Amino acid sequence: MCGIIAFTGNRAAAPILIAGLRRLEYRGYDSSGIALHSRNKIQIHRAAGKLSQLEKKLPAKVAGKSGMGHTRWATHGEATDENAHPHLSTEGNIAIIHNGIIENANALRKALEASGVIFSSQTDSEVLAHLIAATPAETLLESVRQALLQVQGTYGLVVMDAERPGELVAARNGSPVIVGIGEKEMFITSDANAILSHTREVVHLDDGELVSMDQKSFQLSTLDAASATRESITITHDAGSLELEGYRHYLLKEMFEQPKSVERTLRGRLDHRFSTARLGGLNLTARELLDIRRIKILGCGTAYYAAMCGANCIEQLARLPSSAEPAAEFRYRNPLIEPDTLYIVVSQSGETFDTLAAVREIRRKGGRVLGINNVVGSTIAREVDGGVYMHAGPEVSVASTKAFSSMLTSFMLLALQLGRIHDVSPQYGTVLVEALERCPEKIAEALEQDAPIAAMAKKYCVAKSMFYIGRTDAFPIALEGALKLKEISYIHAEAYPASELKHGPLALIDPDTPTIVLLPDNDLLDKSISSLQEIKARKGPVIAVTNSDSPEIVELSDDVIRFPACHQFLHPLVMGISLQLFAYHCAVTMGRDVDQPRNLAKSVTVE
Ligand code: G6P
Repeated sequence: MCGIIAFTGNRAAAPILIAGLRRLEYRGYDSSGIALHSRNKIQIHRAAGKLSQLEKKLPAKVAGKSGMGHTRWATHGEATDENAHPHLSTEGNIAIIHNGIIENANALRKALEASGVIFSSQTDSEVLAHLIAATPAETLLESVRQALLQVQGTYGLVVMDAERPGELVAARNGSPVIVGIGEKEMFITSDANAILSHTREVVHLDDGELVSMDQKSFQLSTLDAASATRESITITHDAGSLELEGYRHYLLKEMFEQPKSVERTLRGRLDHRFSTARLGGLNLTARELLDIRRIKILGCGTAYYAAMCGANCIEQLARLPSSAEPAAEFRYRNPLIEPDTLYIVVSQSGETFDTLAAVREIRRKGGRVLGINNVVGSTIAREVDGGVYMHAGPEVSVASTKAFSSMLTSFMLLALQLGRIHDVSPQYGTVLVEALERCPEKIAEALEQDAPIAAMAKKYCVAKSMFYIGRTDAFPIALEGALKLKEISYIHAEAYPASELKHGPLALIDPDTPTIVLLPDNDLLDKSISSLQEIKARKGPVIAVTNSDSPEIVELSDDVIRFPACHQFLHPLVMGISLQLFAYHCAVTMGRDVDQPRNLAKSVTVE
């Protein structure tokens, strides 16, 4: 989604801003722009389309040692040069960049227009520039504060004033704002990845806070004009991991990183002595864990499918009724919050608006909520009662792969820990600990099928539509496999529980509609093989994804994707890898922009 980067210091700002925007590209955007402060004037440069369009428009030398840049993901108004940020006030003295949505923009716009202001874009954000310009005060911070008191909505906002060189003011309500502290220079960003090559020392603003800064220092305060203080934190992940490192796409790199990223999720969390897992950040005693009667897991997109896998896994091992629900559905249906239910939200970014809103709804009603997150210090991670950091490392490609496998790994650890509190025996606990330790190796083996899967993808990507089917714990993997194919190749794909095929979708099976059938080698294998027969009888092409050597599967399938034999606890995780490779190769064969698929954003921080 929209991205923010701002800089004040003693170096040329433009290259820093452009490089920062590059780091933000992965979040998804459709236009971009920068503003530079030079000789008591603010110059803005904006362009619809990719960052390269903006670069083409920039003069050879762009002066200014402070400035700000923005990548916009259109919500109000199309992706045009005029709607791109920064926006200027009529006199050109106030410039803003804004993430979020101003809910009372129409009313504010009418009032400003009535006082003679002429708007030059269709965005809701532009009102902020005019409103701040129309709210004079002794300091820029005070103007911004008073203007924001009239605003309803969400914002991550940065403001510059032509008359105050080197000064930046930012504010946060519902959209991340992070201050980066450098050597005699300061940064503001919505995503710490954008500034990691300059500094690792950051301070996250909370909702309702503002910051004003120059190149040497910054001051936090609140909308009620109280001062605020916060310790900075140091970001430890490696900036190098944001580079392509020789891979053709981030998606490919991230898929192949999974043996390592899953190893990091597991690190230090398996306990051989007591045959269990130990998740240090849950902030719940064994007694509190024992009192839990039900588990409810929430997430959006890929995280929701990971939540479904997690619910299956916990219910099987801990024998606690567990279910998953899309976070937005949950929060809009006035949910019952029960004291003996443990709520878990799962989110790679920790910033997804619907998931965050669900956290707030649960906590407002007195419920206890844990987070499974990847981004350290993210809003969700800071608002939950406890949780698990996945440590998957930064995920750049819009379509999630390594975060998904680390989500599943986190759920397996949690299921084992809860299972050992309930009825998993020490003996079975040891089997599971040993199985989990082998995850990285099994994922690496699944990735070895890259070449045969690429060849299959070439053959099947001509299809207009595909089905994915699986039973019980393979069903969420079928959903995630179909989502991955839709997101990056734009081929229509639908997932069904295998048993549901005959209740309707079978009508669509024909020689042009391939079905991907998940056949893990478990007790239900025979039943799953009967689905193959149902499809073959309707002349549908079948790609079996299996780790069984049943000759019947080979006989009944047009193609077979093999994944390694492993403990069945690991099946969803390992099968999922094969489906990622299949979707990736379909998309590449079709020449799609795999890292930044059309219409999609990495994290959706608006409603
Ligand atoms: C967006 C992305 C999806 C992602 C979902 C949840 O829709 O396009 O890839 O799964 O958000 O993101 P989160 O950061 O909460 O896991």
